Amino acid sequence: MQILDGKLAAQSIKDTLQKKISELPIGFRKPCLAAVLVGNNPASETYIGSKIKNCQEVGFESRLIRLPENCSENILLDAISSLNADSTVDGILVQLPLPKHISESKIIELIQPGKDVDGFHPVNAGKLMLNEPCFVPATPYGIMLLLSHFQIETSGKHAVVIGRSNIVGRPMSVLLSQPGNQGNCTVTVCHSKTPDLPYFTRQADIIVAAIGKPEFLKADMVKEGAIVIDVGINRVEDKSKKSGFALKGDVDFDAVSKKSAWISPVPGGVGLMTIAALLTNTYRAFEHHQQKN
Ligand code: GUN
Repeated sequence: MQILDGKLAAQSIKDTLQKKISELPIGFRKPCLAAVLVGNNPASETYIGSKIKNCQEVGFESRLIRLPENCSENILLDAISSLNADSTVDGILVQLPLPKHISESKIIELIQPGKDVDGFHPVNAGKLMLNEPCFVPATPYGIMLLLSHFQIETSGKHAVVIGRSNIVGRPMSVLLSQPGNQGNCTVTVCHSKTPDLPYFTRQADIIVAAIGKPEFLKADMVKEGAIVIDVGINRVEDKSKKSGFALKGDVDFDAVSKKSAWISPVPGGVGLMTIAALLTNTYRAFEHHQQKN
């Protein structure tokens, strides 16, 4: 078994970005990511904190716009409009989930597609479907970068994606089936209504587990020599930890790692790649804005 080490792959991407920033002319504006956080969901706080910290590490500017849980949809729409109009902001991300009284689709659709570094806007989602240049959602994009870093050959393989979310499962299935490097897979998408899910996962050369259930994928669901990518970041109560919880993936790592050829750990796998992909998208947005000005 070999580890798809997200720490290593993410660091290599961050080093490349940091070098590009250090080569910008003195006084030149740096790429800037604006992150919007509504409320104080503890997981969202952690993700946003990590995104901001990583921006600092590579030398990007960042802004954090915090709004209270009970803020109106209009206030959030106004905040997005201001960021759209601000020529010093390259990327905008609104951390999901949003409070129930706010329409996620309405908010995402207001973000200028050229600043939508999360790749959630319908224009970017549509372009991804059409295999046109676009911002690809950070988690599936990060997984493609992880596969690429470790030179995993995917062409002709059967990939099973578990989960059909707009953020991970669906775009992942599109990327793996696209022509090109780390693509050309035959893809099966499984979800909560799939009967006999192990029937499919046992046939998979590549499994992407994005279900959101701790240690869901067991060893008897995996074929010998499979490549297993774990997208889960589940908080499981653990009194022995200072925080009171431990992070568990969607894969039973100890058992599945004995059968798999490659496996990504949690933590230290896909989560770090998501951030590296977000930074890459932000840098692309920055480059594009330079070319326009
Ligand atoms: N919530 C869970 N994953 C994500 C993500 O990739 N981006 C944003 N904005 N919110 C999320």
